Amino acid sequence: MGKVSIFIMGKRYNVPEGSTIITALEYAGFQLKRGCGCREGFCGACSTVYRLPGDYKLRTGLACGTVVEKDMQLVQIPFVPAEKVIYDISKLTPSVDVFQKLYPEVFRCLSCNTCTKACPQNIEVMDYIQAIIKGDIEKAADISFDCIMCGLCAMRCPAEIVQYQVGLLARRLYGKYLSPKGEFIKTRVKEIEDHKYDKELSELSSMSKDEVSKRYYARDLDFKIT
Ligand code: SF4
Ligand code: SF4
Ligand code: FES
Repeated sequence: MGKVSIFIMGKRYNVPEGSTIITALEYAGFQLKRGCGCREGFCGACSTVYRLPGDYKLRTGLACGTVVEKDMQLVQIPFVPAEKVIYDISKLTPSVDVFQKLYPEVFRCLSCNTCTKACPQNIEVMDYIQAIIKGDIEKAADISFDCIMCGLCAMRCPAEIVQYQVGLLARRLYGKYLSPKGEFIKTRVKEIEDHKYDKELSELSSMSKDEVSKRYYARDLDFKIT
């Protein structure tokens, strides 16, 4: 396999062509105790910023999903604490007032779209922030659904908004107060309380992890909810 030259925190390394940034870091001898988790693009731990030669843009990406490029200059972002408001969701009402009170900086959004360009999940981050400003919590919850809390949007926001915490609040409010409630869930919980599934549950709890896993993957996904 060919090699490609990259710069990690200013020092040149030759790493395998086609490798992801995480693989390249390890190949270069870095032991990843932080800034690495699932390696599959789900945990948001591996936020990285980089520049390419001759390009003024500061680029962002997940180290586990971004392939190295010749003469790329990269830095992994250390943990940067962001404001996280503590609230009791059961005492909130699903309205724009909640955001005005808990995250007032949201209303400073400049509509610059920098957050959207920084998002490795291709989420329309600015659109969910704007939806919140307009009081459309359902839309904000929907657009932000795939957020993996990597923090890259907040790192780049000139208004210092912590978009991922704001999106999480929107999804919590939507889930608790606004989403249609499935009657079948109430029925199922009642059936469980009435011991309808005791035999099956007891069988599952006596199975080994491998047996449960096999059963899980073999399950019929084409079922009707009754
Ligand atoms: S919305 Fe922000 S925190 Fe969420 S995945 Fe996109 S960049 Fe990361
Ligand atoms: S980066 Fe900040 S100011 Fe710019 S659109 Fe996104 S939330 Fe608004
Ligand atoms: S290691 Fe989890 S998203 Fe990259």
